[in-house]
Amino acid sequence: MSKLFTPLRAGALSLGHRVVMAPLTRMRAEPGDRPSALMREYYTQRAAKGGLIVSEATPISRQGYGYAGAPGIYDDAQIEGWRAVTDAVHAKGAQIVLQLWHVGRQSHPDIQPGGAAPVAPSAIAAEGYGYATHGPVPFSMPRALERHEIPPIIAAFGAGAARAKAAGFDGVEIHGANGYLPDQFLQDGTNRRTDDYGGPIENRARFLLEATQAAIEAFGADRVGVRLSPSGTYGSMSDSNPQATFGYVARQLDALGIAYLHVVEPRIKGTQLIAEAEPVAVRYLRPLFGGTIIAAGGFDGAGAEALLEARDADAVAFGRAFIANPDLPERLRLGLPLNPYDRATFYGGDARGYTDYPFHDRAAA
Ligand SMILES: Cc1cc2nc3c(=O)[nH]c(=O)nc-3n(C[C@H](O)[C@H](O)[C@H](O)COP(=O)(O)O)c2cc1C
Repeated sequence: MSKLFTPLRAGALSLGHRVVMAPLTRMRAEPGDRPSALMREYYTQRAAKGGLIVSEATPISRQGYGYAGAPGIYDDAQIEGWRAVTDAVHAKGAQIVLQLWHVGRQSHPDIQPGGAAPVAPSAIAAEGYGYATHGPVPFSMPRALERHEIPPIIAAFGAGAARAKAAGFDGVEIHGANGYLPDQFLQDGTNRRTDDYGGPIENRARFLLEATQAAIEAFGADRVGVRLSPSGTYGSMSDSNPQATFGYVARQLDALGIAYLHVVEPRIKGTQLIAEAEPVAVRYLRPLFGGTIIAAGGFDGAGAEALLEARDADAVAFGRAFIANPDLPERLRLGLPLNPYDRATFYGGDARGYTDYPFHDRAAA
């Protein structure tokens, strides 16, 4: 008996099965960072009865950008395009939450408003590349945020959540993973602050918890999720004591009563599977967080089933498999073969590698 295809409640969200679509940046928004008709088609294809979709990461401000072509949620003019997406997803019987994003130091002046330096807790640069409109650019040295600049960014998370609600989303997910701004505050490899946002874990977690609280005020705790990537190294991240850091955060989020905790397993480095390692992060956090846990990172159907069987998580999010298989839940349920993905069309472009992956039964599409 498959556990993947049993119903689940996550706060106010009620899922018909446990195959979640992971957040996936695809950079196909319209000018003005508005969701496009092509994006609506892509999400409509991947919506199926009882499913939960986490949207691509969506910046809460222009400063929050590291990838040109990502859709925004920082302007009321972006609500209408998102409304078309949520309406279409709901019409197919699925639910969708918006992932709220600020990249922090993972950016470059060519992507920032006014050509400014990206911002971060501390002036420490990451390795890697962002995407400007003219192509990839290496992450540059960030400027450390002044203490007084932090509350407006927290408020922008709240405003983004309020716009997401106005656009018909079923909830929001704080992007606290993969070395973006909340993660940069959280881990001590990137946070050398000496004010109340740096130093001991209670201070380093403040930014993430306040952003979460701001989203809760807009949406209610039972419609807010948080994504974390304990021990993930993407974005040049490190922490001297990840168990203490992420254990503390999991307990605090538990106390806030959020809808779910979304955990990216550290066996994934960026988008590459570095080892056939066991899922360890969910196993460690499970006793510390009483609510729903969604695991992500390198799962196939059998791996997901085994994880649920072991009770280490309640649902599993699939990334690359969902890019290439619009009908992934159906394929997993029926044990059908999966389409391979095309990495070259992941970030930016048109319908190719986006909305042209075949369904297993074209008539059903
Ligand atoms: C093209 C691409 C874009 C991604 N964009 C995001 C994103 O916007 N937000 C996020 O939290 N993770 C993002 N990820 C990570 C995925 O959500 C997921 O954690 C990762 O792909 C591992 O899962 P998988 O092995 O099922 O692909 C992205 C991954 C890929 C391949």
